[in-house]
Amino acid sequence: MSIETQGNTLTFASIDGDAGLKAALAMSRADIVDTVSASGMKGRGGAGFPTGMKWNFAGSERGDEKYVLCNADEGEPGTFKDRVILTEFPDLVFAGMTIAGRAIGATVGIVYLRGEYTYLRSHLNAVIKKRRADGLLGKDVGGVKGFDFDIIVALGAGAYVCGEETALIESLEGFRGEPRNRPPFPVVAGFRHRPTTVNNVETLASAACIFAEGVDWFKSFGTDRSTGFKLFSISGDCEKPGVYEFPFGISVADLLKEVGGSDAKAVQIGGASGTCVPRKDFARQMAFEDIPTGGSVIVFGPQRDMLAVAENFLDFFVDESCGQCTPCRLGNVKMLEGARMLQEGTCSAEYVAELRELSITMQVASKCGLGQTSSNAFMSILEHFGDEITSRAPQAETARS
Ligand SMILES: Cc1cc2nc3c(=O)[nH]c(=O)nc-3n(C[C@H](O)[C@H](O)[C@H](O)COP(=O)(O)O)c2cc1C
Ligand code: SF4
Repeated sequence: MSIETQGNTLTFASIDGDAGLKAALAMSRADIVDTVSASGMKGRGGAGFPTGMKWNFAGSERGDEKYVLCNADEGEPGTFKDRVILTEFPDLVFAGMTIAGRAIGATVGIVYLRGEYTYLRSHLNAVIKKRRADGLLGKDVGGVKGFDFDIIVALGAGAYVCGEETALIESLEGFRGEPRNRPPFPVVAGFRHRPTTVNNVETLASAACIFAEGVDWFKSFGTDRSTGFKLFSISGDCEKPGVYEFPFGISVADLLKEVGGSDAKAVQIGGASGTCVPRKDFARQMAFEDIPTGGSVIVFGPQRDMLAVAENFLDFFVDESCGQCTPCRLGNVKMLEGARMLQEGTCSAEYVAELRELSITMQVASKCGLGQTSSNAFMSILEHFGDEITSRAPQAETARS
């Protein structure tokens, strides 16, 4: 199966993930974890948590029943790189899951597949079936006595919040997909309240590459604090949208050159919950130490109405908030109302200041990452494009809600 996507050549295409699995299975569980830690890899799902540390926590917990969950929910607006990985390189993902299973002492891996990717299920199941036949899943995986590990695919519930790891777990258990209170973290009490590692599709595929090619090879890409290469989903006002691979550390300007978007006035990095970077900051780097990202890049051309962009994102968050906690449930509604008032020219400067305070409340008081980040784009658009927004709303200084 193959899908059409512009972009550049992905390193994943040249890696034998099963050579990585074989190398990992020759190691002790502790050495597998140490190797991932030494690679410096941080999770590719957005939060950037060190993968070796996560596997170490889950591996250190007692108990025979542990789980490896592959987060293939890919619900962040503007993100579509996991779909490409699952379509083109499923063996790499499954090899990575099996390595994670060995590292933490799990016997079951589950791919939580975005509901809209249902069409991929039969493809993934066929690959899993072949891996069982090849002895790469099932009993005594890879000939290692006593290492039993199998993978199943479960369909997601179709809500953005189900990509949040604890909501994902609730959803997998058959409940409404709502984030849990943390602690306990999933590495201690996750799926079925057993130690669980939840990793992004790309993280798992990259783990297999580390074992196939070595830690030094992996660290030869990227920066000291953001090692390796990263897949980016590039969309919006550019000539060549698609899935691209770049080393961490690439500047926004260089990335835009590659995709034919050099005239952009802003770029939204990290999806709707990410950061809006204006043209003056295009020298900044895509890296956890500068602009962290799960890989979504939306390009905004010179004619783009930035307030309409903010309104669109906020509309999405009003729909997708699970409603459990007040700052997010009501905060997003107030933010959207504010954006609409600005569109109509009925929002005073004082009310904008109140919205800024509300944004801080949402960041600190929301229960999960959705509410903690949902006002970021609006706030950065107000900060960087305030003139553009107020210049079309002459009565904004005097009006009040
Ligand atoms: C609202 C919300 C949605 C998320 N959606 C996804 C997603 O679709 N895929 C993903 O890998 N991580 C997503 N995450 C991050 C996960 O909670 C988690 O950090 C990630 O799966 C960990 O994997 P990693 O360490 O390999 O990056 C989301 C987080 C939040 C708050
Ligand atoms: S922050 Fe939003 S999505 Fe997260 S738990 Fe609270 S209401 Fe639900």
